[in-house]
Amino acid sequence: MSDLVLIEDADGIRTIRFNRPEKKNALTRAMYTAAATALETGDADPAIKVFIIAGAGGIFTAGNDMVDFMQTPPALGGSELPPVGHFMQALLNVTKPVVAAVDGLAIGIGVTMLMHCDLAYASPRATFKTPFVDLALAPEYGSSQVMPRIFGHVIAADLLLLGSVWNADKAARHGLINDVADDVEALARATAAKLAAKAPGSLRAAKALMRRAPEALGERMNMENDLFGELLRSEEFTEAATAFMERRKPDFSKFG
Ligand code: COA
Repeated sequence: MSDLVLIEDADGIRTIRFNRPEKKNALTRAMYTAAATALETGDADPAIKVFIIAGAGGIFTAGNDMVDFMQTPPALGGSELPPVGHFMQALLNVTKPVVAAVDGLAIGIGVTMLMHCDLAYASPRATFKTPFVDLALAPEYGSSQVMPRIFGHVIAADLLLLGSVWNADKAARHGLINDVADDVEALARATAAKLAAKAPGSLRAAKALMRRAPEALGERMNMENDLFGELLRSEEFTEAATAFMERRKPDFSKFG
């Protein structure tokens, strides 16, 4: 695995860290592939419960490596995903929770990927920018759909059309991130630890429901009811209910 993406596993949490600070953690094809593989192998590994995505050197990422992009632009069409597409698909498909810790710059895909994380935190020195139109490009990987849904059209236009720079407070106010903390990594780790202690099957079910495209409310209720009924019969729920009766904390560590 390349040193440009550091993978660290501890206490059921896999941290994927962009590590190219001399280039502002700009993401190359090899880095996307390394990060995608870390997500895919972690999702298949019962010992990994949660992911953290972070950057090294006080920077999250300055986005796609511009040199890489110009030299090897992702192919149009074709059946094989380019490395950036591989990473974004892996992020979209990962069934376990993903927590982002943004310290410093988040530009371009550094912001887009936050749309596909489950929780996101930032340090007070974080800044967010999606300069696609300024670069004569277009929004990518679902951001043109997800951003207007989260922020409303006029606020999304501030990022996607104007290319404004948001600071951490503004990002929190508009719902791009959950919270701001001086030690953003400590907050991300504490959050990941809370998630890692929860029932994994239940977390997967909740995440999958939240990520589904909207459907008629009645249909969604039926789907939730089916899942709820299934989970009521699960060993995870037996543990949760037994722990409640026994006035102790549930232990979900044996569930993958
Ligand atoms: N791709 C490739 N290299 C990048 C990069 C990117 N996205 N962002 C920064 N770098 C490189 C710079 O070329 C420079 O390399 P060098 O030291 O070999 O010249 C190094 O990282 C440091 O960047 P520099 O511009 O000197 O730092 P800065 O603090 O003045 O500015 C940024 C930092 C991130 C604001 C500025 O580099 C920038 O605007 N980068 C482009 C970001 C972008 O548009 N990303 C979206 C791509 S779709």
